[in-house]
Amino acid sequence: MSTPQYKRTHDCGSLRKTDIDKKINLSGWVNRRRDHGGLIFIDLRDRYGVVQLVFDPKISETLHKEASKLRSEWVVSVSGTVSHRGENLINPKLATGEIEVNVESLNIISVAKTPPFSICDDTIDVHEELRLKHRYLDIRRGSIIHNLEIRHKALHVIRNFLNSHSFLEVSTPILAKSTPEGARDYLVPSRIYPGNFYALPQSPQIFKQLLMVSGVDRYYQVAPCFRDEDLRSDRQPEFTQIDIEASFLGSEDIYSLCETMLTKIFKECLDIDISTPFPRMTHNECMERYGTDKPDLRFQMPLVRLDDIIEASNFDLLKDYLQNNGCVKAICVKNGADFSRREIDEFISFVSPFNLRGLAWMKKTQEGFSSNIVKFFSVDLLQKLEKRMKAENNDLILIAAEKDTIVNQGMDHLRRHIAKKQGLIDKSSYRFLWVTNFPMFSKDETTNELKAEHHPFTQPNHEDIPLLETNPLQVRSLAYDLVVNGYELAGGSQRIHDQDIQEKVFNALKLEPKDIDEKFGFFIEALKYGTPPHLGIAFGLDRLIMLLCKTENIRDVIAFPKTQKASDLMMQAPSEPLKGHLAELKIKSEATEIHWN
Ligand code: AMO
Repeated sequence: MSTPQYKRTHDCGSLRKTDIDKKINLSGWVNRRRDHGGLIFIDLRDRYGVVQLVFDPKISETLHKEASKLRSEWVVSVSGTVSHRGENLINPKLATGEIEVNVESLNIISVAKTPPFSICDDTIDVHEELRLKHRYLDIRRGSIIHNLEIRHKALHVIRNFLNSHSFLEVSTPILAKSTPEGARDYLVPSRIYPGNFYALPQSPQIFKQLLMVSGVDRYYQVAPCFRDEDLRSDRQPEFTQIDIEASFLGSEDIYSLCETMLTKIFKECLDIDISTPFPRMTHNECMERYGTDKPDLRFQMPLVRLDDIIEASNFDLLKDYLQNNGCVKAICVKNGADFSRREIDEFISFVSPFNLRGLAWMKKTQEGFSSNIVKFFSVDLLQKLEKRMKAENNDLILIAAEKDTIVNQGMDHLRRHIAKKQGLIDKSSYRFLWVTNFPMFSKDETTNELKAEHHPFTQPNHEDIPLLETNPLQVRSLAYDLVVNGYELAGGSQRIHDQDIQEKVFNALKLEPKDIDEKFGFFIEALKYGTPPHLGIAFGLDRLIMLLCKTENIRDVIAFPKTQKASDLMMQAPSEPLKGHLAELKIKSEATEIHWN
């Protein structure tokens, strides 16, 4: 058999000075064609780089004529000889910039339509919708390929690391039953059992616990997960977890396992040394100091409670909030006294969508505090305030009063907004934090019913177990999150392996035996056959890659992502089923029309 004409001896990024005079074959896409003083130059591109081809009419007029037909994005194969470019023609920006290839034969493999956006210049801003519609071309531009390479490398490190620690990679089903992660399920109708549906897994939680009952001992999976929830820049309806579970280990073991794994990932992917052990903070302290359970610790500006100081002041407007079960918290903006009235008004507008009706403020100057609220405080109180806020000259104090949850949410956003505005965020640093002792339950705001904060198989703190019956909202759990730079990167917990405790948790959740049986009877049954103590964690792989690629858009690290509205613009999915499909499934539907443009 003859060798196909497109067989390559090199890729487009690898030729160097040491290859001069070699006869080589290359294949790739036409990046650019330039006609210069009778010569035609083609930049040929593939995943590995760009190399310059030269067509000289003095060597072959026919070839030169062929080359003049070439257009961007055509696929070609060439053979030729590597030569030096000449000292004054060297392109230092290109890895292959010292050489060029004198083409001796050209084979046009595919012609191309004019692409809807420039492929050769990745820096040109193109609307994301257009890029997603032609995602295959967007990937070809280069930066997405670079992100996919980092993703591949990180996965390789993760697999090597977990394999070397005796973790077994096991795939669990995609067609399954509802899992208790709290989002909406994606359902898949069954043809064989009309009216019945599979649920796509929100996570492999139940399966991985069952694998511990099975004696797998250490499990991991690069797990596809599906959640029908409101999307944000760090959320996709379909995403990937690095899902881990282990028996007979404690949370300290999991913390150190994850820290070592991340150290390796950052070293091998970015050549960055991250420092371990990561600091820890309880959920309570986290909410108190930062108003969120995923604080960005690359800058300070903590929230400081001022309830007692306001209570002792004459500031009646804020005192009213305290009397209505509210709280008062403030942040001290270093050098914030430079902000103008207009900018402070802008901060007030910024917090209003979070239901904060206003912000009180004071500037600290050499003469003391200045603002129209200073009159409400005695000298002693102002001193106390100055000390508590660690206020120095030229600082600005911003004060908010409302219900705890509202103050926390508004001030968390404001803190981050101001840090961005003041340029306080060091984009090259990674500040990890373990958040521990999450509450076991929270109240569902719409139904007012108790719901599991993590999931109902999470082990409550041992000393809080009596509270399961008396005051469940006070029960803390052995759940932990790993947070970095304001992102929740991973979450996990110690699981319940004691039947009595599991029953108490179900009781606290007011789950009837019938409901338990229907939802996860098979699982509770399994736990009765000798369950080892076990615990686990799941990393959001896409979020990890976002951090490694320094992007704030999760779509940049997924080959074929969905939009913020959970649609695939390229395939135009979701779509109406094919004719007859619904009838076969015995489903009637009221479809809405989607305008794809
Ligand atoms: P949790 O729900 O906290 O825990 O999810 C674990 C991690 O998965 C990532 N993640 C997401 N990433 C992108 N898009 C989404 N929609 C999305 N939702 C979650 C986050 C998160 O920290 N079964 C438990 C884990 C366990 O207990 O072991 C679970 O799924 O990075």
